[in-house]
Amino acid sequence: MGDMGVVVGGLRLKNPVVAAAGTFGFGAEYGEILDPARLGAVCTKGLTLRPRDGNPPPRLWETACGLLNSIGLQNPGIDAFIREELPRMREQGITVIANVWGNSPAEYEQAVAILSEAGVDAIEINVSCPNVSRGGPVGEDARRTARVVRRARRVCPVPLWVKLPPAGGIAVARAAQEEGADAVSAVNTFRGMAIDIETGRPVFANVVAGLSGPAIKPIALRIVYELAGALMIPVVGIGGIDDWRDALEFIMAGAHAVQVGTANFVDPLAAARIVAGLERYMDEKGIEDWEVIRGSAQR
Ligand code: SIN
Repeated sequence: MGDMGVVVGGLRLKNPVVAAAGTFGFGAEYGEILDPARLGAVCTKGLTLRPRDGNPPPRLWETACGLLNSIGLQNPGIDAFIREELPRMREQGITVIANVWGNSPAEYEQAVAILSEAGVDAIEINVSCPNVSRGGPVGEDARRTARVVRRARRVCPVPLWVKLPPAGGIAVARAAQEEGADAVSAVNTFRGMAIDIETGRPVFANVVAGLSGPAIKPIALRIVYELAGALMIPVVGIGGIDDWRDALEFIMAGAHAVQVGTANFVDPLAAARIVAGLERYMDEKGIEDWEVIRGSAQR
């Protein structure tokens, strides 16, 4: 059998399937139904310096082939994460990617410094949450993204990934690359909305929420294809990946790894199922290394 392993921006993964932030808890909770260490890595829920309660309900709304969320980065804060969750993740042999959000470049820097010191395997800076900042996420602006990545990079000895919004474009991804990001994850949710036809009002208190799931897959795939063609650093593909065939499409578009998000809500075994499907595919096709097929659509 070929080697499922892959190195993504300095981080060695045993396979290219990662559980996306906010869709898989801290991974250890899944221990009774699957071995979370079987996944390439687990991205934590977006972590902030201080605990956050998140946005008022409703926070989730199903759409045709998709899901809108307005969670608002509910999380226990980095101190509680380091005290309570990280040791459990370590015990279970999970490769830990800490997803980090800050209110300012200084907050990102502080959170990244503390988390990388605490022994996470990599950091994923979240500049793409659509639910917490007025006027759109930082990652829709190249100069603001550059400021955040610069501050994070100087205190981050571990691999640094940057999770991008769909509307950032190549300019933002290049800014992240120039400031020393080791990889970009693309894409976070699309800004969308829903209206309750009984009240005539927006469903969400923030009006705008983040759309994910199969509905966004073809658009996410196109963005990953464009980024992989334009960047020197690896791209991690995200967006509506539901089974191993979807994952393969992203790899063929040029992604070094993929993240499985919304599919985990439908089937908690989705990510493990995708690992098994890719394993079978590699075996049947006699593929020894992802490099053989990575980016085949670019050639
Ligand atoms: C949220 O917590 O609102 C979603 C996180 C994200 O989109 O990054």
